[in-house]
Amino acid sequence: MRALGLALLACLLAGGAAAQTDEAVAIAIFREAGKVLQHPRCLNCHPATDRPTQTDTMRPHQPRIVRGEDGHGPAGLPCSTCHHKANFDPARVPGHPEWHLAPRSMAWQGKSLGAICVQLKDKERNGGRDLPGLLRHMSEDSLVGWAWAPGAGRTPAPGTQEEFGALIRAWIDNGAHCPTE
Ligand code: HEC
Ligand code: HEC
Repeated sequence: MRALGLALLACLLAGGAAAQTDEAVAIAIFREAGKVLQHPRCLNCHPATDRPTQTDTMRPHQPRIVRGEDGHGPAGLPCSTCHHKANFDPARVPGHPEWHLAPRSMAWQGKSLGAICVQLKDKERNGGRDLPGLLRHMSEDSLVGWAWAPGAGRTPAPGTQEEFGALIRAWIDNGAHCPTE
């Protein structure tokens, strides 16, 4: 598995970036983290519509299902009907005890990395999280962590959750600036 931006990070932090502003450093780091944020393993659960998407091509979810009131699916057909506590490799069905869809305010599909960045920091849209809360969610949440252990036949997100957490921490330490696009 390819390491995620750690060389870049080491170089930036070791003063290779002495001539760069914190803002340029933060943006370079966020772009690297964007390889995870905009990976199909994350985007499939952060769709633009009420319907999740599937596979690396992000095709609409088959069978047809929708988010329902709280992201767990409609009362008659909750996600947990098919998505159990753990991945079920023989049938290629991913699993996690909390498997459900990110709320509409956290839709990422079809947005630029800059727009995702601004939205991530917006407490009105990100579930009321401050920056430490955001870091905790990205580096420790096990539903986020599923993206690196997605089961048979699925491409994991690049790097590791730990490396991703280190990038997000460094982005915050450098002012959490966002790319313009
Ligand atoms: C009737 C069964 C069924 C229900 C109900 C169901 N799913 Fe799925 N889901 C599947 C199957 C099967 C797959 C695997 C398809 C594949 O990748 O070949 C899948 C895959 C997915 C994926 C793709 C993961 C990835 O990155 O490849 C997401 C996201 C997903 N489901 C979300 C949901 C959510 C959220 C709900 C509830 C709102 C839900 N599903 C309800 C059967 C179901
Ligand atoms: C199985 C579905 C699923 C997958 C896969 C998933 N998420 Fe989420 N995500 C959610 C749900 C549900 C929430 C809302 C949880 C909450 O607010 O407590 C959420 C919320 C978030 C938030 C909160 C802030 C915001 O504005 O979005 C972040 C950050 C986040 N996810 C990052 C990721 C990253 C990074 C990945 C991939 C490495 C990922 N997620 C994969 C379902 C998913």
